[in-house]
Amino acid sequence: MTAPPCTVDVGGERPYRIHIGPGLLGDGALLADRIRGRHVLLLTDSHVAPLYLEQVKQALQAARPGLKIGQFVLPAGEASKTLASFGEAITALATLGATRDACVLALGGGVVGDLAGFAAACWMRGVDCVQLPTTLLSMVDSSVGGKTAVDIPQGKNLVGAFHPPCAVIADTDALRTLPVRELRAGLAEVIKYGALGDPDFFQWLQQQRAALLAGDSVALAQAIARSCEHKARIVERDPLEKGERALLNLGHTFGHAIETAQGYGAPGSDNLNHGEAVAVGMVLAARLSAQLGMAPAEDTEALRGLLQDFGLPTAIPAGLEPEALLAHMRLDKKNIAGRLRLVLWRGIGRAEMVSDVDEAAVLAVLGEG
Ligand code: GLY
Repeated sequence: MTAPPCTVDVGGERPYRIHIGPGLLGDGALLADRIRGRHVLLLTDSHVAPLYLEQVKQALQAARPGLKIGQFVLPAGEASKTLASFGEAITALATLGATRDACVLALGGGVVGDLAGFAAACWMRGVDCVQLPTTLLSMVDSSVGGKTAVDIPQGKNLVGAFHPPCAVIADTDALRTLPVRELRAGLAEVIKYGALGDPDFFQWLQQQRAALLAGDSVALAQAIARSCEHKARIVERDPLEKGERALLNLGHTFGHAIETAQGYGAPGSDNLNHGEAVAVGMVLAARLSAQLGMAPAEDTEALRGLLQDFGLPTAIPAGLEPEALLAHMRLDKKNIAGRLRLVLWRGIGRAEMVSDVDEAAVLAVLGEG
């Protein structure tokens, strides 16, 4: 495993670099490196703004005194990832007078990154975006690969665009202020990479559990770099999710259904957050795979055990009806011609897309909780 600081390059038609290491939010030269014009919109949320907004603004201004920097602060939480907030971000860009060489800086977690990226994708048909992820979940997943979106009541991420960033700058010091529940949620996405394609990494995670949960900065940076390597290799081959990129959604169809059925809660609510819902979703996908005869049941147990060891939930929260969850799953973006397509697996490290999945089998798994 590479020691921090380190970089991961994402290839393809619009290549960019992921920087991982401590102190990067104070590195004005790095923050300004991909900014081409005069206008910057710093988009963040009410949790992150008091922690890092001034630091980033001052570092940028010192590195590039001529910059005109606007800011837009969302209320923290998934409930802000709406078309209404998107409209407000666009108004902020208009008020700034942002021209086509403007850059949107997304300072925060997945909600901020998705919304800022979508605003950047749409303003003047596309301006630059630099992702500054401050949560583990956004460092290992949502900041990389260019998926941008907002939610609507009918489902998560149903309105959006592919708009890759021009750089990702992951300051691992930001993880020190991350609530432990959010750290665990990010670790669910880290475990996903082991589960879908990397048995050695799965084993490494078993060995490093204590260090990762204690917030050990070297172990976390190594986990981030390895996760980003996985994601980079996949998205550079399949940027628009026409094939293998869908494997990155292991656990997500079940997980999104749980999130949608619960309603998009405020941070700290009892509702499962995204990483927790993905943890449950991965176990459901593994159980369905075992029931369909695709994978050994021991591998489901190994996955469930690892997630539990990381303090993550592995069962559907009480009160969610199987039929209602299935109805949400029918609206998943991977489905084709009204038939369920799910990422299942053949065992640890061997995820596979399966079309035309039998709804009765899915309902049976959902019914077992
Ligand atoms: N989060 C899955 C992807 O970016 O494709």
